[in-house]
Amino acid sequence: MAKTAKKEELTDVTEAQIAVHWKEEGYYQPSEKFIAQANMRDTHILEKFGLANFPDCFRAYADMLTWFEPYRTVLDTSDAPFWKWFVGGKINASYNCLDRNLAKYGSKAAFIFVPEPEAEPDATITYQQLHTRVNEVAALLRGLGLKAGDRVTFHMPMVPELPITMLACARLGIIHSQVFGGFSGQACGSRIQDSGSRVLITMDSYWRNGSLVDHKANADIAVRTAKDLGQDVDKVLVWQRYPGKYSAKTPMVPGRDFFMNDLLKDHKGKNVEPVALPSEGPLFLMYSSGTTGKPKGAQHSIGGYLAYVTGTSRWILDIHPEDVYWCMADIGWITGHSYIVYGPLANAATSVLYEGVPTFPDAGRPWRIAERLGVNIFHTAPTAIRMLRKLGPQEPRKYKYRFKSMTTVGEPIEPEAWRWYYDEVGKREAVITDTWWLTETGGFLGTTVPAIHAMKPGSCGPGAPGIHPVIYDETGAEISKGSGKAGNICIRNPWPGLMQTLWGDRDRYVKTYFAKYNKDPRSKDWRDWPFMCGDGAMQAADGYYRILGRIDDVINVAGHRLGTKEIESACLTVPEVAEAAVVPVQDEVKGRVPEVYIAVKPGVPPSQDVIDRVIKANEEVIGKIARPKHVYIVPDMPKTRSGKIMRRVLAAISNRRDVGDVTTLANPDVVEQIRTMVQGKDTVTTREELPEDIAKFGQVE
Ligand code: WTA
Repeated sequence: MAKTAKKEELTDVTEAQIAVHWKEEGYYQPSEKFIAQANMRDTHILEKFGLANFPDCFRAYADMLTWFEPYRTVLDTSDAPFWKWFVGGKINASYNCLDRNLAKYGSKAAFIFVPEPEAEPDATITYQQLHTRVNEVAALLRGLGLKAGDRVTFHMPMVPELPITMLACARLGIIHSQVFGGFSGQACGSRIQDSGSRVLITMDSYWRNGSLVDHKANADIAVRTAKDLGQDVDKVLVWQRYPGKYSAKTPMVPGRDFFMNDLLKDHKGKNVEPVALPSEGPLFLMYSSGTTGKPKGAQHSIGGYLAYVTGTSRWILDIHPEDVYWCMADIGWITGHSYIVYGPLANAATSVLYEGVPTFPDAGRPWRIAERLGVNIFHTAPTAIRMLRKLGPQEPRKYKYRFKSMTTVGEPIEPEAWRWYYDEVGKREAVITDTWWLTETGGFLGTTVPAIHAMKPGSCGPGAPGIHPVIYDETGAEISKGSGKAGNICIRNPWPGLMQTLWGDRDRYVKTYFAKYNKDPRSKDWRDWPFMCGDGAMQAADGYYRILGRIDDVINVAGHRLGTKEIESACLTVPEVAEAAVVPVQDEVKGRVPEVYIAVKPGVPPSQDVIDRVIKANEEVIGKIARPKHVYIVPDMPKTRSGKIMRRVLAAISNRRDVGDVTTLANPDVVEQIRTMVQGKDTVTTREELPEDIAKFGQVE
């Protein structure tokens, strides 16, 4: 019982102060060779980006861009906390990623596309060719009457046509909203509706894990869903995976659906002048999961965002134009927008695009690609690292690639996985940056500057240049470094990469990210508006941060954020389901996976059929990524006397932990019934502490 007693005691103090016990890891130093060639070698860089020099320090990033008209004000706080960066400046993102690179790098590869089928040849697209293709698509979009400020939704896979269409929109100031290709048609439809798009751009098919997926089918569902929600889509523009050939079974809808390649015939060789847009104009929306079922459209600016991803690509990823850089993320997520497309291209990089699954056809695939293309910068997520390690721990040794730098992003990485990445993938030569950030933040928040700071497995490092984190407890008191206590990590100051707002929902923006620690809602001083990231974190005595995971009801599955309410509402679309509760479960490869508990309506017998339909509902409403590991039909949910479902109790059961004291629940007996159902008759709990994100799961009600 000692454990239960301890838990209660901690709950009494404050949940945010839970002591986190973890072994201090040793440091790893960057090599002299890496340091000698690094873009950022100034050991005083963090001081130069200190708060004393804020916000002017960020001119260094803005000055990496080409402006049509110079900005007058670095930071305008008059509409706090809706910050405006580089005000007065006129700029175009497509110009900065393409036109300005042509003179020097026109014949150099901008993208190298690697199709999933290994027999299919790579497609190299030079800056000149990319410029031509982007201009033609821009001409097409303009021809359809689209203009600056209009929204267009994409539901595209990992193919060159995705960044081409993004850059074509950026050229005209059209706000793109790419929905991850693996999301369902319904998920796409609700994002179309929220953004008010009248045009959907998609692709007929793509390769995934050895099969050609019929993707066009999702477009029909998306359009129907949007219409049901009140948003009409006039046109669906369909790229063809194999130009000139239709590789989907779903019929095209006459008058609504058009092949991009047919329409493009009228725009061959056309040039479209990049529109000089205000710095604070919106560049794109990126939807992310929050605590409610409604997705949040993070709205990113042109000037601030582009400056931030350009600067961090140069200094943190250490991209030089001569490098071959490969980020294995999907462009459908923020990582791809910032660090496959906009940041690398603005630095004239050669960026590799891989269509498929890293382990297809085997766990040697990424290393073969790296060897063949001479990749020297590699960027991926812990979930991929764990999977590649599990399936082929010795594979990297068979290939002769050499990485100078590597990045990890998306979830906390265990020191053990980190060391495999360092020893085997990086061959003890490559530096690692563990970059912590969010969809909403545009670019890195916590990371080492690779030539300057030592690496420490499991910790992202200090704040990135110009990012000043602070950890608060529940009462708003600062938790000091080295205290061994965790709390809510916030950023003290604004920075150019931060989203401008949530699309169409100013109140939710303020409430979700600022309300908790803001003391004066009328203040125009940025010091009064720390940005709450939604992660639990602790800071070691050396100043390095360790991120413990989400503290809201968001489950990070393989580095992808899924809202519990989204999953639970998907379950409730099955008519027999009365109540649903989802909890995160630790998973060796994916980090966290959802497990679902449902109660069926009175008179409905529990059946495998209901379980199957709950699984299917999740795949249809959200996507395969939301597929629950298990679905349990329980006699009743554990509830407080006020009727709230105690997800924390379910999370403890799913994670084989002690459920603690449940005597205050309205129905304590059901807990043991559920426990036996999930764990079997014998107690199989482990004494290990639950990770913070799971331990605190379900507190935000
Ligand atoms: C988590 C992805 C630990 C964190 C760019 C954050 C991380 C959420 C790291 C955002 C990291 C991201 N170490 N945790 N290096 N990077 N996270 O919006 O919980 O998809 O809040 O953005 O991922 O996920 P999102």
